Amino acid sequence: MKKNLISISLVTIGVLMASASVHAQTTLKESFKDDFLVGVALNESQFTGSNAREAALARAQFNSISPENVLKWESVHPEPDRYNFGPVDSYVEFGLKNNMVIIGHNLIWHQQTPKWVFQDDKGNPISRDALLERMRNHILTVVGRYKGKVGGWDVVNEALNEDGTLRQSPWEKIIGDDYLLKAYQFAKEADPNVQLYYNDYSLENASKREGAIALVKKLQAAGIPIAGVGLQGHYNLTWPTTNQLDETIKAFSKLGVKVMVTELDMDVLPPATRSQAAEVSMNFALRAELNPYTNGLPASVQQNLANRYADLFKVFVANRGVVARVTFWGVTDADSWRNDWPVKGRTAYPLLFNRDCRPKPAFDAVIKTSGHL
Ligand code: XIL
Repeated sequence: MKKNLISISLVTIGVLMASASVHAQTTLKESFKDDFLVGVALNESQFTGSNAREAALARAQFNSISPENVLKWESVHPEPDRYNFGPVDSYVEFGLKNNMVIIGHNLIWHQQTPKWVFQDDKGNPISRDALLERMRNHILTVVGRYKGKVGGWDVVNEALNEDGTLRQSPWEKIIGDDYLLKAYQFAKEADPNVQLYYNDYSLENASKREGAIALVKKLQAAGIPIAGVGLQGHYNLTWPTTNQLDETIKAFSKLGVKVMVTELDMDVLPPATRSQAAEVSMNFALRAELNPYTNGLPASVQQNLANRYADLFKVFVANRGVVARVTFWGVTDADSWRNDWPVKGRTAYPLLFNRDCRPKPAFDAVIKTSGHL
């Protein structure tokens, strides 16, 4: 009897050790190496190594990186005659050192772009030619500096409205609809071998997807070798459906381009809005009922998150070959922008690693879809 108890507890210990070592050894990049790259967005504390634990986790788990903010115009080119390349150099260095595919995010966007870009010294709007000149200089300078190091660029971010029409951004208003074509031409001029992407949110909804399909066709017809479309992937537990996602990936694949999921995270908190748009400018007031999990995520919600992530990854794996990369927008729940968007100051749980850098049940669920657990 005693002997049996001992052997049972030895078995239990063995099982516990085995599962601990699964966590220690299993990585996202290794599990999906025959399917697609698995990337992560990094902030400065991670690629400079000042947050050593998160830097180590990023190194261990991912084989591609995206810059969360340091390559946006306001950060890399804050004043007309001043570029701020220090943080970007560290970001690129981190990727090179760790043999990662380095993504450039992004060149042309209506957000996180300083007002001066569109104005003259007196604050009046500049002409089409003057803005094209600024755009060309910026793209040639930034893309040129990292030529041969950055593997692909989000050349234009979020150019479309939800109904698929072109957004009336300052770029569009001053230059006209062909600002997109110009941006891609300048990027190609700066680095003829680099991959060029179009990146946006809500492309899983048919109306906006049709707009993106038309846009890609237009660029292709004008001789732009567009390599991929990025689905940002700021999802929640019910949107998009797996069918919408599958249809979207297949629709873009028909155009001969790859699909990347570029900013994946999952909202489990009560919605502050019915909108599915990832408009960074949204900012709703914090109310207690919008922030129910300040002391931890209930097991049932943790399980829903795991199941939901598994369902999405099954779609990605089924579309391997078209899906070239899946990038998470943050390393752990602690540093996700979802804690502050679209409501500031919430406790969010959108990623695969918790605030203590440990894998959540969603991590195991995702790994399982690769057939490696
Ligand atoms: C977000 C960053 O995560 C935040 O830190 C920043 O304050 C705002 O932008 N779509 C994009 C990303 O293309 O660049 C955005 O990143 C999230 C939505």
